Amino acid sequence: MMTVDWEALRASAVQAAKSAYAPYSGLHVGVAGLVDDGRVVLGCNVENASYGLGLCAECTMAGQLRLSGGGRLVAVACRSGEGELLMPCGRCRQILFELGGPDCEVDTPRGVLPMSDVLPDAFGPTDLPS
Ligand code: THU
Repeated sequence: MMTVDWEALRASAVQAAKSAYAPYSGLHVGVAGLVDDGRVVLGCNVENASYGLGLCAECTMAGQLRLSGGGRLVAVACRSGEGELLMPCGRCRQILFELGGPDCEVDTPRGVLPMSDVLPDAFGPTDLPS
């Protein structure tokens, strides 16, 4: 088990939200993920004039995770630029589940919870034929 500095992770998420490109919704989202090698990877939302093409913060963090060396997500905090706690949307919960599995911890309004609580009975890699 890794020790998670939740305050630092939350502050990193707020900082990441400052890089958001959100001219349409006005909601600046930042996310910070602790990786199993101790790295912290960040993401921010990137919207598009073709609204449905916008990228959530968790999606850009997934790219950063892979581009900076891969590994598994251990803990994730998502915040607005104002510091408000935000929950990952449904699609992003699936993305986090893929990259962190059921034990990855997520900051929620109910406290820190594992992905198995945040996305119960998840469809995942083990459901695919080998
Ligand atoms: N958003 C995220 O970045 N992550 C989520 O999990 C929920 C929603 C973004 C998408 C869009 O740019 C803005 O928040 C408003 O929906």
